[in-house]
Amino acid sequence: MDMFFQGDNSMPTSFSSDILPLFRPTDIACMKARGVSLGVSDWMRDPTAKFGFPDHGNARRVFSALSRGKMPPDGAWPPDKLAIYQQWMNEGSISRAIPARVLRAFACGIA
Ligand code: HEM
Repeated sequence: MDMFFQGDNSMPTSFSSDILPLFRPTDIACMKARGVSLGVSDWMRDPTAKFGFPDHGNARRVFSALSRGKMPPDGAWPPDKLAIYQQWMNEGSISRAIPARVLRAFACGIA
């Protein structure tokens, strides 16, 4: 499924193909130890209101740290990486509700 979506700007972004590759192993390891699960899709896409954000508190707090240049500590993300993350928050699978029936069809390779 990811192969279809990669590099195709007309398709919505997804965590596994668009966001996860932006993180280095050291980012994931460093933050996992502090309860920020950058590498875990369900945690990153959690819709729960948290940290003062009205929805998707985990992802929005991560974006806040990134866009303020606070994280990663050894150098802020360039604008193109921030733009991909922002696009994912706006229109990607973070906010899209995909019916389970459709997800199963993709997993089976029949859609
Ligand atoms: C893309 C990479 C990273 C992201 C998105 C990220 C995200 C975050 C977030 C959301 C927080 C919570 C604090 C806040 O929101 O102000 C945080 C804190 C922290 N992170 Fe990261 N982090 C990244 C990389 C790293 C790396 C590589 C290290 C270690 C070398 C690190 C060390 C820390 C530490 C020590 C804190 C707590 C102290 C503080 O708030 O300044 N982070 N990070």
